[in-house]
Amino acid sequence: MPSPSTRLSQIPPYLFGQIAALKAKAIAEGRDLVDLGIGDPDQPTPEAIVEALYSAARNPETHRYDESPLGEAGFIEAVTRWFGSRFGVEIDPRSEALMLIGSKEGLAHLAWTYIDAGDVSLAPDPAYTVYRVNTLMAGGEVCPMPLLRERGFVPDLTTIPTDAARRAKLMWLNYPNNPTGATATLEFFREAVDFCRQYDIVLVNDAAYSEVTFDGYRAPSVLQVEGAKDLAVEFHSFSKMFNMTGWRMGVALGCKDVISALNKMKSNIDSKQFPAVSRAAAYAIEHVGNGAFLDVIRERRDVLVDGLASLGWDVQRPKATFYVWAPIPGGGSSIEFASRLLEEAGVLAIPGVGYGAYGEGFIRMSLTVMGDQHGDRAREAVRRIQAAGIGARV
Ligand SMILES: Cc1ncc(COP(=O)(O)O)c(C=O)c1O
Repeated sequence: MPSPSTRLSQIPPYLFGQIAALKAKAIAEGRDLVDLGIGDPDQPTPEAIVEALYSAARNPETHRYDESPLGEAGFIEAVTRWFGSRFGVEIDPRSEALMLIGSKEGLAHLAWTYIDAGDVSLAPDPAYTVYRVNTLMAGGEVCPMPLLRERGFVPDLTTIPTDAARRAKLMWLNYPNNPTGATATLEFFREAVDFCRQYDIVLVNDAAYSEVTFDGYRAPSVLQVEGAKDLAVEFHSFSKMFNMTGWRMGVALGCKDVISALNKMKSNIDSKQFPAVSRAAAYAIEHVGNGAFLDVIRERRDVLVDGLASLGWDVQRPKATFYVWAPIPGGGSSIEFASRLLEEAGVLAIPGVGYGAYGEGFIRMSLTVMGDQHGDRAREAVRRIQAAGIGARV
């Protein structure tokens, strides 16, 4: 049997694969875990969207390849209308939006679209691993942009080495941010657009969590910056907005040259999504809200953050995403701390170092905890952590 490519063997196993194995082992041992691991909404997809899929799937027209240029016209038009009313930015449905089979697929293929051997991508650290891994697989190099707590987990663009900036083809941003829960201002996006214009870089904002926000906060879009469409694209996802992770539906919007290049790459790899799914997604974006889901997540956030704070953890309340990014009380290795949480408290959290070197010293706790009713599993996590004597002031 030949071995897989060198490029593949350089890549560590997908972070959540290892976590899934640890989780499976604990469950096989009959342990009751409070699972604050992967960020996959535990609530079902709203019934009206399931009904829309059902009726679209009964139409034999949807049983064929989607041969449209950018994604079914009904979907692309619904998304661009939503974008216009949500962000006040007009997107041309004929050239500035592209349907994706989930945003992860589009992000990965964007790296393959732009990166040649020796090219650089500027990527946040810690970060969703897809930006880095696909840059590396395409033969590129990653210049990390550290996300530091004292800067609100927003990179300091003035510290990017000039040589890396000159060689960079992509800058990845992700606001609202996974794993830190941080948000960025329009002012920061403006700085990023100016930087990328100066160095001729494609600017990418992964906005998978733009609609997962609380306490009246509304996330801005990078495309609201004047002139951003000359060089920026933004990725949106139906996964977190409508509890549709398994449906695989996302969209890229913005600079038409980037959209066109990504489309060229994709059309040689995939044949778009099942058209019934894109019709259901169009229905979702036009008719369905996510307020009830946000209320559930906010309640858990408050229980978890207040509970950990009462134990002496120095933890902040995120105003977006469903992640609590907690500094490890007293510092130390995040892998050791997460293992301790799992073994001694039966609480599954993700070690921050899995998201990059600058994630060391933190753990990520997801609020999409299965089986939770009004914060009871989040409360149970705090109770167990306290009982196990993990953290400060216990
Ligand atoms: C930051 C970020 N971007 C993109 C994705 C992928 O979402 P999708 O389901 O649309 O592929 C995730 C999923 O966890 C994510 O956290």
